[in-house]
Amino acid sequence: MIEIKVNLKSEPKKSYKIVIENGITNRIPKDLKKMKLGNKYAIITDSKVCKLYGFSFARFLRNNNIECEIFSFPEGEKSKNLKTIETLTTKMIEKKFDRKDAIITLGGGVAGDAAGFLSSIYMRGIPYIHLPTTLLSMVDSAIGGKTGVDLPDGKNLLGTFHQPKAVFIDPNYLKTLPKTQIRNGLAEIIKCGVIKDKNLFETIEKNLSKILFLEPKIMNKIIEQSVTIKAQVVEKDEKENGERMILNYGHTYGHIIEKLSGYKLLHGYAISIGMVLANRLAVEKKLLNKKTADRIRNLLSKVELPIATMKIPTLKDLVSDKKKHGDTINFILPTQIGKAIIFTEKL
Ligand SMILES: NC(=O)c1ccc[n+]([C@@H]2O[C@H](COP(=O)([O-])OP(=O)(O)OC[C@H]3O[C@@H](n4cnc5c(N)ncnc54)[C@H](O)[C@@H]3O)[C@@H](O)[C@H]2O)c1
Ligand SMILES: [Zn+2]
Repeated sequence: MIEIKVNLKSEPKKSYKIVIENGITNRIPKDLKKMKLGNKYAIITDSKVCKLYGFSFARFLRNNNIECEIFSFPEGEKSKNLKTIETLTTKMIEKKFDRKDAIITLGGGVAGDAAGFLSSIYMRGIPYIHLPTTLLSMVDSAIGGKTGVDLPDGKNLLGTFHQPKAVFIDPNYLKTLPKTQIRNGLAEIIKCGVIKDKNLFETIEKNLSKILFLEPKIMNKIIEQSVTIKAQVVEKDEKENGERMILNYGHTYGHIIEKLSGYKLLHGYAISIGMVLANRLAVEKKLLNKKTADRIRNLLSKVELPIATMKIPTLKDLVSDKKKHGDTINFILPTQIGKAIIFTEKL
């Protein structure tokens, strides 16, 4: 079992552990009894994950004398909104959930973000744990305590920083995940490699076919390395004021590309193109050599992630992005594999 601690210096009491192991779900009852997070648990999941894993997970908890209810919402980003939060709240109130109870998020980033958000506001806040089931949620959204929902005006416009009490990463869930979703998560893992960890990048380069076949040893290794990077960055900058910006490599362009596609392009696919465009800028600014930029593009291409777009966002398009600051715009640009800087461009 791999255990990673997220130490939050501002509030040490909020520090928590992330555990990674195939089959770790089986250990959750024991851990819940030890942690004593709640008298009962609301398992919040989407409709697809509910059928695949939710019902059996709820039964498993009950068989282990843990009181729980399961609440699901229709799968997909379209459910990450206030209506879902309201519906879930009503259902939890009907089942008499109060401040002494807790939430378990089961699913991808949508379930994690929405249920995490709900847990931060339900009766002024109750504890929660994450049980991520997509690769993206295992390496990214379940780590760091950012929660939220979308509004018609844009994604993630309402949200909170609310840290989970623990994150249980069980890579066995990936067996049913469509390959497009595996690639989606791999884009974020490659991002981590480029900005912080050459070894991670090279591990993916050398073991790509094993990774696409979900070979457990290698999968667990790259998940661990990515989670460690995200956890370290979050520890230093819990509320995204400085260091955490580095995780936005590929995202300045990526967010716009995602938006321009009407959100038809998966996030990881959009940031793959975003990374290629950021690299192009880094080469232009003589911060990165072309050979390294090509190496990154080659890896993305081998993963079958997109590396080009018909409509390259202009600086004007980027200005509408929330990462701009006054008359400047920030890009995260790599200078070599394993190292990136914040580059401020004047408009
Ligand atoms: N909080 C953060 O820091 C953070 C970071 C990155 C992304 N996000 C958010 O995460 C969301 C995207 O997350 P996502 O990509 O996991 O999407 P998702 O939660 O919609 O899951 C993708 C699809 O996979 C299905 N699925 C989930 N687990 C499965 C499994 N084991 N087997 C088969 N199917 C399964 C889901 O039902 C869904 O259809 C976005 O809303 C994004 O804003 C948040
Ligand atoms: Zn991302």
